[in-house]
Amino acid sequence: PAGQLWGGRFAGGPAEAMFALSKSTQFDWRLARFDLAGSKAHAKALHAADLLTADELDAMLAGLDELDARVASGQLQPADTDEDVHGALERALIELVGPELGGRLRAGRSRNDQIATLIRSYLRAANQVLTADVADLIGALAAQAEANLGAIMPGRTHLQSAQPILLSHHLLAHAWPLVRDLQRLADLDRRLAISPYGSGALAGTSLGLDPLLVAAELGFAGSVANSIDGTASRDLVAEQAYVLAQIGVDLSRLSEDVILWCTAEFGFARLADAWSTGSSIMPQKKNPDVAELARGKAGRLIGNLSGLLATCKGLPLAYNRDLQEDKEPVFDSLDQLRVLLPAVTGMVATLTFDHERMAAQATKGFSLATDVADWLVRQRVPFARAHEIAGAAVRFCETHDQELSDLTEGQLAEISPDLNLGLLSVLTAAGSVASRNGRGGTAVEAVQAQLAELRAVLAEL
Ligand code: ARG
Repeated sequence: PAGQLWGGRFAGGPAEAMFALSKSTQFDWRLARFDLAGSKAHAKALHAADLLTADELDAMLAGLDELDARVASGQLQPADTDEDVHGALERALIELVGPELGGRLRAGRSRNDQIATLIRSYLRAANQVLTADVADLIGALAAQAEANLGAIMPGRTHLQSAQPILLSHHLLAHAWPLVRDLQRLADLDRRLAISPYGSGALAGTSLGLDPLLVAAELGFAGSVANSIDGTASRDLVAEQAYVLAQIGVDLSRLSEDVILWCTAEFGFARLADAWSTGSSIMPQKKNPDVAELARGKAGRLIGNLSGLLATCKGLPLAYNRDLQEDKEPVFDSLDQLRVLLPAVTGMVATLTFDHERMAAQATKGFSLATDVADWLVRQRVPFARAHEIAGAAVRFCETHDQELSDLTEGQLAEISPDLNLGLLSVLTAAGSVASRNGRGGTAVEAVQAQLAELRAVLAEL
């Protein structure tokens, strides 16, 4: 029957429920234009192998171009009777150019090598869009880092006060993982750029078709060395799903910071109206829904990755129909990031920060205790003893309910003979931040150098 690519050995058609289960046009139609590009390249290989005349090739390419225009305009849609994107397009081609010519296209290829190629083509194209979306978010983080340069905030480990840092330093710490995600995508592309076309069902083609010709036509850098691997493997789809899940996790960690910063208790940042939502009952509410959806979707992206790995784990070589289950998870992850990334970028770009409140909290929780120890080291006290003395100073202040910077000459001497008023010169958040001026540190000059480095790395991607 039309739209079905097999049937000769069957006495009757599939049962209704069999067909409903088998049908994949509802999710593989998005590959239609890649399938047509593959068909054009395949037709050229058929011509090069003397299996299509020059006239036949011209008519075939014209027909495929016409179908491409109809797919692009939405005029051509899969019919209810089409099993998959490949069958639908062959049916449409035969309707357009007749069975004599249209029926020649399938020679020497299988849906197994076709689908394995299409998914790689699709991911390569999708990754261009994704890269631009991630780069926009990195740009927004960098712009905020630049605009807020100098603002000091409490740095935390274990969510407890640790050491004062620059807000810009913290924002850029969310940019670098995203830079690595883009590097991962670029690296993955080197592997996606190998075409499985020519693998046939699993054993290669007997018709003298040139896989490298097809690969070059489709913009691939090469073709697979093993036809079984070409049709049976989905590790690259899983690798793609991993990078998408990692992006989700990176967005989620950034979002968790935004959620905390926007609470009344932290009060470090405010969301713009356009990037927050209200409550149907509590009039005062301004909720960080973008950030929460990012956090929530990360779970979904991780699920897509684990589902795909589970699908692949027990499969014998070569192709198994289970492999059809590779597409929906990775399409879903891409679709989620396509809506999520611009929203996270908008939220980040429009955040406003309360510099005074952040600065006021920067020294809370004795966050300058490390600076006390470092000051002692510069006075030639061994660090282990310096650590002890600084700890004693914290304990003293805790019991006397005062700040380290309020210690008097007498109190300093009481805590340790190694302490004196000279210490007070380093006991400010600004002094602490400025002192961490080595590469990768939080001092203003170091963060400026970091920003320049980030921009240079981005320009190279
Ligand atoms: N729709 C299948 C997939 O996505 C490709 C078709 C192969 N079908 C087959 N019966 N060999 O993997």
